[in-house]
Amino acid sequence: MKKAGIIGIGSYVPDRVVTNLDLEKMVDTTDEWIKTRTGISLRRIGPENACTSDMGAEAARKALEHARLSPENIDLIIVASASPDMIFPSTACIIQSKIGASNAAAFDIQAGCTGFVYALTCAVQFIVSGMYKNILVVGAEMLSRITDWEDRNTCVLFGDGAGAVVISEVEEGGILSSYLGADGTGADLLILPAGGSKEPASIDTVAKRRHFIQMNGNEVFKFAVRILEEAARKATEKANLSMNDVDYIVPHQANIRIIDAAVKRLKFPREQLVMNLDRYGNMSSASIPVALDEAYRDKRIKRGDIVLLVGFGAGLTWGANLLEWSID
Ligand code: COA
Repeated sequence: MKKAGIIGIGSYVPDRVVTNLDLEKMVDTTDEWIKTRTGISLRRIGPENACTSDMGAEAARKALEHARLSPENIDLIIVASASPDMIFPSTACIIQSKIGASNAAAFDIQAGCTGFVYALTCAVQFIVSGMYKNILVVGAEMLSRITDWEDRNTCVLFGDGAGAVVISEVEEGGILSSYLGADGTGADLLILPAGGSKEPASIDTVAKRRHFIQMNGNEVFKFAVRILEEAARKATEKANLSMNDVDYIVPHQANIRIIDAAVKRLKFPREQLVMNLDRYGNMSSASIPVALDEAYRDKRIKRGDIVLLVGFGAGLTWGANLLEWSID
């Protein structure tokens, strides 16, 4: 059976930094509260004249360059985003046009903050089946556009950014296992209610701020701790490995207390966690690929390392990919 793996990676975050002190001027919060309750100090916010596909295209170009492929070599683009440019066309089609990947099919995946894990898992199936050779997987988010900047419960959590990988057949290593799950009975816990067919945009939906993220923080918190542990265990078991074999976990960067509680249950060493939450906040589908890119660039993750990506988020959804890093 063919093996699929990451052969190129890149990421992009906007220049503008928003500090907790900046947020103190906007809502009733404090730097101390945000740091201790979430672990976040800074986040990046995209420029007014940009949108999700601009950041995704930027990350995609870097991943292509790293993989030494030209855009024409890409057969498929899968974009994971909870903050797409628009309902349709897909952000994947817009990125296809922006980078000139004229031979690629393109579609979006909506799986909340698990989007990148879902998209990567999907890409692997196209490679191992032999249908496609080179697939671009992008996690891109401009969450600042769908964040309610008057709601202190949510606005302190999110940030903008994008990460991308190229998936192709590899000889050694690659994706060893994938595990996905969903529970739609928890759909209301993390939701952007209006703007779709259920609640089309109206003066009323705008006045009631229903075009912004709404969240039941406590319930999502409990779900996330439980499911992070479960997804990590399921993916490692599927590959016939144990947590002791894992060199690094790259978790979805939602809240430091969620991650601390889950890795404690997993008895996994904290120093082997890849984190960037303090600098970027929660970038949804972009959190995992940006963190992975940074850990590779600063030479923490090296060829042969066993790396576990674990995501969880709106849907509710969750999932994990276990991989053996196969690039120098
Ligand atoms: N600044 C100051 N106080 C805040 C605040 C803020 N930014 N946000 C909430 N509070 C207040 C609440 O209003 C509440 O006040 P009250 O007791 O007077 O009602 C108090 O802090 C405690 O709220 P609570 O919800 O119990 O806090 P918490 O410790 O659970 O932390 C979250 C809140 C949102 C940080 C936490 O629940 C969380 O991270 N949940 C998961 C969110 C997430 O990761 N979502 C994305 C998943 S992909």
